[in-house]
Order: sequence, then structure tokens, then C-alpha cells
Amino acid sequence: MSLIAIYDSGVGGLSIYQTIVDYCPGHEIVFVSDNEAFPYGTKPEPELVQRVTKVVTQIAEHFAPDILVIACNTASTVVLPSLRARFEFDIVGVVPAIKPAAEQSKTKCIGLLATPATIQRAYTENLITEFASDCQVTKVGSSDLVCLVEEKLSGGNIAPSRIEAVLEPILSDNRIDTLILACTHFPLLNNEINSLFQANSRHVKLIDSSKGIAKRVSFLLHSNESTDELSEAKNEQATAVFTQPLNAPALFKVLENFGFSSIDVLAI
Ligand code: DGL
Repeated sequence: MSLIAIYDSGVGGLSIYQTIVDYCPGHEIVFVSDNEAFPYGTKPEPELVQRVTKVVTQIAEHFAPDILVIACNTASTVVLPSLRARFEFDIVGVVPAIKPAAEQSKTKCIGLLATPATIQRAYTENLITEFASDCQVTKVGSSDLVCLVEEKLSGGNIAPSRIEAVLEPILSDNRIDTLILACTHFPLLNNEINSLFQANSRHVKLIDSSKGIAKRVSFLLHSNESTDELSEAKNEQATAVFTQPLNAPALFKVLENFGFSSIDVLAI
């Protein structure tokens, strides 16, 4: 049994967690949310790099993971090389699924929904140049949408008009047939986003990176373990840790439903 740490600024990493649990059952999982420093998508790069390095150092010391998944596009698009140079365990990053979206779009008009930071990254621009040069890419950067997801999982009722306001540039362009959810928070709004497109008689395919990440984790697990170990690894234990105490009873319930058996605080 391996220990997989999954880290995000907030609850967005749960979308990656769920796919990893589905594809790679039988491992111990620690989900880390840096809720003290949330949100990441409005932070200047140097501040973000410093914070992420600090959090990963704590994760390494406390949990010694076999694999760390940076379940955050905003962080992954800027810190992966320095983290990989510093830590010995495998580090898997989550970056915008621009390649599959460009391949699957028939109209060659795609939407890119991310945090303002991810939208501005040179990393993202390079992905577009490399894989989607034949597409028109409509970029929408929103931290409001990230906060809406946090609100939803903390028990809030989200009026569809608030999501609609963010998606306006995508909703108003009928040519767009594919939307990249390039922030791990956004798949947690899949149903709401799909309903909005349906209400506008639109068929837009939502694409995120979670399956690709889970497959990569599965590949690393198989190359790290013997077949015997895998077949014996039936029990899976999931712990959620937050960098400051949670103050949302509804979120405890959500975490329980996701399968977390304990919820702790990791002071940074
Ligand atoms: N979930 C993170 C991502 O994938 C960002 C959320 C934030 O702004 O903190 O980009």
C-alpha cells in the first residue's frame, strides 16, 4: 500500500481525489487543503511559490508520501520544476487539459476557464501554442467561481445566475463546443454548468485533467510496487488535513461522504 498525498488550496482537489480513488483503490490517502492561504489564484507568483514550497515541506515531514499530487493548476503551472528538484518522491501536477480539448473540438473554438493566475501563465500560453494553434481559445479567469465552489461545499445555495455571469463570454459564443475546466474546483460544478448550457440549447463538452492524472498516478503506483503488494492492498484510509481549523459543519459531512475517516489540522 502506498501513501498518496493530494494537495490544493481548497476543496477543489476533491475532484482529483475522487478520480484517483476510482482509478487507484486500495491506498492510503492524505488530502491537504491550504485553506489558511486560500485562494491561490490571486496571489503574485513569488508569494505562491514560497507558500507552496512551505506546505510541501510540511507534507514531506509529516506524511513522507510516496506520491504527491499538486491538485491545483494555479500552483502546478509555476512550481513543478523547483519542487521536483527539491523532493525525492514522485510529484504529479495538474495542468490545463488543452491538448485533449483541441483534439476533441469539432468547431475548433474552445473555452478555457481557470483562475486569473492560470490564464496569465506563460505555461498556459505555451500549451495553447503547442497544442491548440488551430483553435480559437476564449479565456475566462475567475476567482469568484472558485469561491462559489467553496461556498457550495460549505452548504451554501448557489444561484445559477452567479455562475451564468462568469460564463457569459462562453455562453454568448455559439461556436464554442468544448470547455476546459482548468481549475480543480470547477468539476465540482459540472452539473450546474451543464444545466446552464442545456438551458441555452447548447451542447458543450466539459473537459478536465482528472482522468489523465489518475492514470499517471496508477502508472507510478504500478512501477513502485510488486503485484503481491497490490493484490493485498484492499484497505484504503483517507485523512483530510487543513492548514487552519474548519468552521463549516456542512463541509465535515461532505468530507465524510467522500470517504474521509479523520479530519485534522496541519499548522504551517
Ligand atoms: N483549485 C486551484 C486550481 O486548480 C485554484 C484555486 C485557488 O484560486 O485557490 O487552480
